[in-house]
Amino acid sequence: MTNHMITARGLTKSFPAKGRTVEAVRSVDLDVAHGELVAFLGPNGAGKSTTLRMLTTLLPPTSGEATVAGCDIRRDPAGVRRRIGYVGQGTSGGHTQRVRDELHAQGAFYGLGRRETRVRAAELIDSLELGQVADRQVQSLSGGQKRRVDIALGLIHRPELLFLDEPSTGLDPHSRANLWDHIVDLRRANGTTIFLTTHYLDEADQLAERVMVMDHGAVIADDTAWALKESLAGDRVTLTFGSPTDAAAAAARIGGELDGLVVTVTAPGGDHALPRYLRDLGDAGLVVEAATHRRPTLDDVFLALTGRSLREEAASAAAPAATSDTDPAHRVAA
Ligand SMILES: Nc1ncnc2c1ncn2[C@@H]1O[C@H](COP(=O)(O)OP(=O)(O)OP(=O)(O)O)[C@@H](O)[C@H]1O
Ligand SMILES: [Mg+2]
Repeated sequence: MTNHMITARGLTKSFPAKGRTVEAVRSVDLDVAHGELVAFLGPNGAGKSTTLRMLTTLLPPTSGEATVAGCDIRRDPAGVRRRIGYVGQGTSGGHTQRVRDELHAQGAFYGLGRRETRVRAAELIDSLELGQVADRQVQSLSGGQKRRVDIALGLIHRPELLFLDEPSTGLDPHSRANLWDHIVDLRRANGTTIFLTTHYLDEADQLAERVMVMDHGAVIADDTAWALKESLAGDRVTLTFGSPTDAAAAAARIGGELDGLVVTVTAPGGDHALPRYLRDLGDAGLVVEAATHRRPTLDDVFLALTGRSLREEAASAAAPAATSDTDPAHRVAA
C-alpha cells in the first residue's frame, strides 16, 4: 500500500455480545513510519488491544485493511508474524519450562540457530535483569518478572517491528526504567519500529515520537505529545491573593476561575504567561501572594477532548490482566 511500516485504512472490529454488537474499533486509519515509536493512549475499553490484535493478525478485522511490515494482514498473515514481535497485554501464566529454556524454544521457533539463540537469550536475560530467575520455572515467578520474560520472548528474534500492549503495567519503577532503557537501546542499535499502548501518560509523553489517543473505538487525536499539549491545553497558572475582593477583581481582569482566594487560568505562552499576569495585576494594584505555573499534561489533552480524565483509568489498569496471548499465539499461528 505504502512504504510505511504500518498502514491501516478503515480498520473495524465488531463483537456480538448478548444480542447486541460491540463496536470495539471503528474505522481506524493509521500510518506508522519506519523506525517510529508511537504510543496508543486511551481509557479501558477504548479499543487499543483490539487494534493491536488485528494488526498482529491474531484477530480478523470485520472490515478494513492493513499492511504491516510490508505484508497484507489478510493475504499474508504468516509474513506479518515472521517480521514482528508482539507482547500481549496478559502475562504468561502457566509455563512449566525454565525461563532460559523458554527463551531458547522461542528462538528455535523463529528459526534462529542454536548458538545465536543462546547468545541472544543471554543478552536478554542480562538486559532485562532476569539472571536471578533464569533457571526457575516461569510459572513460579512474580507478575513483574513474568512480564519481563514476556518482553524477552517478544524480542528474541530482533523483530523490525515490535508491538507492546501495556509493556510496563505491573512493573516496579526500577524494572520500568530498565525496560525502557532496553527499548531505547534496541531502537538505537536496530532502528526497530515500536507501536505500544500504555496507561502511563508520562511514558508516552517522554518516549513516544507520536501519540495517538483512542476513545470509543475511534482515534480522536494523532500528533506529537508536544503539539497535542500546545494546541489543546495551555499552561495552568494558579494565583493566590490576600483577600477575596482582590481575588475577584483579578479573576474578572484576566478571565480566570475564582475559588475563594485562588484564581486559576489556562494560558498560552509557556514560560511567559506567569510574569505577564504578575505585571498586569501589579499594575492594577492587585498583589499576588503566591503563584504556580504548571505545564499541560496529556491528561489535560484527554480531558479537553472528552471531558473525562485518563488518570483514574491509569489507576484501575495497574492490576495485571488475567489472560495471556503473548507467546502461545506466536507459536501456534506463525
Ligand atoms: N472477544 C471479545 N468479545 C466481545 N467484546 C470484546 C472482545 N474483545 C474486546 N471486546 C470489547 O471491545 C472493546 C475494546 O476492548 P479492548 O480490549 O480493545 O480495549 P483496550 O483499549 O485495550 O482497553 P484496556 O485499556 O482496558 O486494555 C471493549 O468494550 C471490550 O469489552
Ligand atoms: Mg488493552
